[in-house]
Amino acid sequence: VNSWTEVGKLNEAMKDQHVLVRGRAQTIRSVSKNMAFVVVREHGFTVQCVITAIPDVVSRQMVKFVSGLNRESIVDVEGIVSVPKDPIKGATQQVEVQVRKLYCVSKALPTLPIIVEDAARSEIEIEKALQAGEQLVRVNQDTRLNNRVIDIRTPANQGIFRIQSQVGTVFRQFLLSENFFEIHTPKLIAGSSEGGASVFRLDYKGQPACLAQSPQLHKQMAICGDFGRVFEIGPVFRAEDSFTHRHLCEFTGLDVEMEIKNHYFEVMDIVDRLFVAMFDSLNQNCEKELEAVGRQYPFEPLKYLRKTLRLTFEEGVQMLKDAGVEVDPLGDLNTETERKLGKLVLEKYGTEFYILHRYPLAVRPFYTMPCYDNPAYSNSFDVFIRGEEIISGAQRVHVPELLAERAQGCGIDVKTISTYIDSFRYGAPPHGGFGVGLERVVMLFCGLNNIRKTSLFPRDPLRIAP
Ligand code: 4AD
Repeated sequence: VNSWTEVGKLNEAMKDQHVLVRGRAQTIRSVSKNMAFVVVREHGFTVQCVITAIPDVVSRQMVKFVSGLNRESIVDVEGIVSVPKDPIKGATQQVEVQVRKLYCVSKALPTLPIIVEDAARSEIEIEKALQAGEQLVRVNQDTRLNNRVIDIRTPANQGIFRIQSQVGTVFRQFLLSENFFEIHTPKLIAGSSEGGASVFRLDYKGQPACLAQSPQLHKQMAICGDFGRVFEIGPVFRAEDSFTHRHLCEFTGLDVEMEIKNHYFEVMDIVDRLFVAMFDSLNQNCEKELEAVGRQYPFEPLKYLRKTLRLTFEEGVQMLKDAGVEVDPLGDLNTETERKLGKLVLEKYGTEFYILHRYPLAVRPFYTMPCYDNPAYSNSFDVFIRGEEIISGAQRVHVPELLAERAQGCGIDVKTISTYIDSFRYGAPPHGGFGVGLERVVMLFCGLNNIRKTSLFPRDPLRIAP
């Protein structure tokens, strides 16, 4: 045999065929001197391989060699597909491979910090196993993250990062099809774009500088440069001090900026169609991945409408008030009131994805356009999944004098952003845009409880490695 078969493609129709597969030895079980089982895993799919001593075909030496393999070693297996009478527990594929040859391509250490099988169990499975008296170590989050290269071998994690890839793919494809084009803005910048506290400061060859908290200023400057409609997928740095389930110090920003003709609703229209297309695509193209995530971390599919619900901030405040929750009508919502409103919206409108717009100006960044009819409010919005924010967006101030005044009012040293403000002095079209947190979208779409699960190598206030 010299052509390879993927483990995930092995099936009953291949009965009696000779196949060649490569994967990791997930578990090795020696039954006797003449027989052993190896479960081989390739990218989340598993198949049981049976090695039996057969005179002149498979030696006892071979059985001994296989029995002594270290878990997670990479093996090439040549063998014949067979279909057992009983269903196979502990493997995704319902066929076996009767081994003729087995080579170890790369040996893993004999003791592992994480056993992939254990790391892949759901809470319910762990509880059951413990009740049945099984000796089992719960793999905690720090152990997982310290040994991320092994942790991400679980089916759920394989699923999460394929889903993440699909979110980026749909984002890019949708925007390209809507006449946006992709830009790349600097991550080393002179001044903070989103406010002073959460910025990583650094020395740039003797000049004070910082890591970009968003592409905000430069994506707007691209619009001043007549680019019309742009997007960017790139790293965003926030020196967050808070330990929450949803904040990272580095995350991936999906950013959009566009000219608008009449109204900031044009920006919300893009959000609406982009995200409905994205959720549809995830449901259609990532079925297996969503199932793998759900097996370890059970969740309900996201409820969303064909046309995304829009509520004004005032309407949201009123809904909370009617439910007995008082909030400052010109303040911001907090994690708790956002969640509460999410529940109320689900009950009333049957959706877990919606847009809240016309926020009080005082709680928005300096570059946000005040409402023309009432400057206490702003042409801005946040977007929520399951009661948690995934997007913030707005129309921007394109009048340089007002921009400078607003920056000053927000305590920003105008000198550090003077080239940004100057960009608006040579003619600037009305424009708006939004920023999405990639890790948050995946976390909330999959109903996961911690953003570290959806960041490949998360960066939080205590973690800079691996
Ligand atoms: O709300 P933020 O700070 O908005 C901006 O950066 C604006 N420049 C966007 C715009 O175009 N107006 O961040 C945007 C999104 C949030 O909605 C959230 O999903 C995510 O980025 N986000 C974070 N994700 C992980 N860790 C953090 N510390 C995050 N801070 C924001």
